[in-house]
Amino acid sequence: MDAADMGDDLERVLISEERLGARLDEIAAQIDADYAGKDLLLVGVLKGAVMVMADLARRLHTPVEMDWMAVSSYGSGTKSSGVVRILKDLDADLTDRHVLIVEDIIDSGLTLSWLLSNLRSRNPGSVEIATMLRKPDAAKVEVDVRYVGFEIANEFVVGYGLDYNERYRNLPFVGTLAPHVYAD
Ligand code: XMP
Ligand code: MG
Repeated sequence: MDAADMGDDLERVLISEERLGARLDEIAAQIDADYAGKDLLLVGVLKGAVMVMADLARRLHTPVEMDWMAVSSYGSGTKSSGVVRILKDLDADLTDRHVLIVEDIIDSGLTLSWLLSNLRSRNPGSVEIATMLRKPDAAKVEVDVRYVGFEIANEFVVGYGLDYNERYRNLPFVGTLAPHVYAD
């Protein structure tokens, strides 16, 4: 799927495929340097992190294991409440493992802050976070994030794993939707 397939549903491309890829090159190089000689477990949060996980993992020289978690945030509509339910837990035992959580976007930070304390309670060797996008103006809790792709304004974005009603995840870029899409 690309911009042309979006017709007039696309408002604008916020971060192009090229910029996403270039930033992932830099982040992968940092991760390789930081985890040299260590055994690394990437933990992707379904479903949004699928694209960033695939593109980041392929850029790493460090051998990694990949595991997945699905969580759902209790709360009304699109706003997360920080009360989280595990829909699919990890297969891996985290004891003494170096864990890197891979996220698509950090908005309020509530989901991630819950996830961090949950994973830390499993006695890992370390837990860090990598996210493609962060909305600093939306933060309700401060989360210490080791690797951030891009900081963006507090507006709803889709593409590169991110959806509106489960659509647009397969766009190769991050963009915003025209207002009529939300109205329809
Ligand atoms: P927190 O707990 O940080 O929640 O508020 C993060 C989760 O909220 C979703 N989210 C978005 N999804 N476009 C989306 O498609 C956005 O602009 C957006 N902002 C937050 C997403 O599921 C993320 O994991
Ligand atoms: Mg979503």
